[in-house]
Amino acid sequence: MSEKIKFGSCIGLIAATVGSAVGLGNVWRFPAEAQANGGAAFLLVYILCVLVLGIPVMAGEFALGRGGESDAIGVFKKLAPTRKWWIVGVLAILASYLILSFYMVVSGWTFEYMIQSIDGNLYSGDNFGSRMSEYIASPVKPVIFTLVMLAVNLVILMKGVQKGIERVSNMLMPMLFLVLLILGVVALSLPGAGEGLKYFFSPDFSKITPKVVLNALGQAFFSLSLGMGILITYSSYFPANTKLPRTAFTVSMLDLLVAVMMGMIIFPSVSAFGLADHTLEGTTLVFVTLPEVFAHMPLSQMWSTLFFLLLTTAALTSTISLAEVAVAMMEDRFGMSRKKACIVVVAPLCVISTLCSLSLTGISWLTIFDLSLFDFLDAGATNILLPMVALFTCVFVGWYAPKGMLRNQLTNNGQCNRRLYPWLKAILRYVAPVLIAIILVSYFL
Ligand code: PHE
Repeated sequence: MSEKIKFGSCIGLIAATVGSAVGLGNVWRFPAEAQANGGAAFLLVYILCVLVLGIPVMAGEFALGRGGESDAIGVFKKLAPTRKWWIVGVLAILASYLILSFYMVVSGWTFEYMIQSIDGNLYSGDNFGSRMSEYIASPVKPVIFTLVMLAVNLVILMKGVQKGIERVSNMLMPMLFLVLLILGVVALSLPGAGEGLKYFFSPDFSKITPKVVLNALGQAFFSLSLGMGILITYSSYFPANTKLPRTAFTVSMLDLLVAVMMGMIIFPSVSAFGLADHTLEGTTLVFVTLPEVFAHMPLSQMWSTLFFLLLTTAALTSTISLAEVAVAMMEDRFGMSRKKACIVVVAPLCVISTLCSLSLTGISWLTIFDLSLFDFLDAGATNILLPMVALFTCVFVGWYAPKGMLRNQLTNNGQCNRRLYPWLKAILRYVAPVLIAIILVSYFL
């Protein structure tokens, strides 16, 4: 890290963290996971994961970042110089990199959909389902758009993150909220919306299995950007008077809100348009359901363009923050120039992301354990690496970090949250590690 510039304002710091948290995870991945895991049952477990584990772990990562004032590997080296805890930082960076490789493919899809909305091509036929399947199954176009997104990322990363992207995202993120709100109203007023709403909100408890719990936990960590070193890096820029627990709460709630809003748009639309019988894969859900909604609105093309533009921006703020972890590491640990670090980080992605995209076209040698490379990376990084890093992070801040660091960070040296602190500490020491460990182990049984 170069010199420690701090965030100027409370709003700016929350906006930046929310910018990283809100992305394709909320809009694309959440509805897909909810659909694959029983709808309302998943939502219930998801909310519990966010409240019981997500917020405390986020506060813990904040404490670690502000206490250690360094990057994901640096904080561990600084706070425990004689131990091997820095390996946790390496795992965090690995997780963020693997996630980046398939996330980039999906951000390519959003970009393609934006272009298709602008030129009206998207609305020239009527079956969005088969169109999406054909699009993904075609080898060339998705790869091209993935590479385009990689190039955009490279340019922005090289310029440095602060100015352009932050300013743009601070403007566009509130717009995304607004558009989602409008879409929500439209979706809820569709005839037949009630059934979808029921699917999303009235849980069938028999559907809660260990797999559902693991997926909900993975989704919560993914969506809150936990376990990837990002929040550690960001919080090293937080000023000393920022209240960490409150910030964790605000960011998590905004992130949850976007996910729930998405569910309230997608599921009513799915039932209203009879898309449920369609053999839709969860991952393509958003790209099929939303165009249906737009097609039923006046000015379809405008709404569609606006939405996919905002979604592409939301994806971009997230990919940039993901890539930044690896870039910062290359700069700090290997002394590379920024330019070189960016190229070293992005170049391998041109290959990995291309393979990820191709693996969805059914190329069999790109299959691992019966999963396409895309799904394998998603499941492996999200369901295994992230909880693992989060587990070690909790154990470290709860038990091994220098005495008093957690307390001083979470209470701003005893000035606030004194009553909340023992609860957070208990969760970080006992509840979170035990729960995460159980969930991880049950995955392998
Ligand atoms: N949280 C982001 C999302 O929901 C994804 C992301 C993960 C971004 C990790 C940065 C780091 O889309």
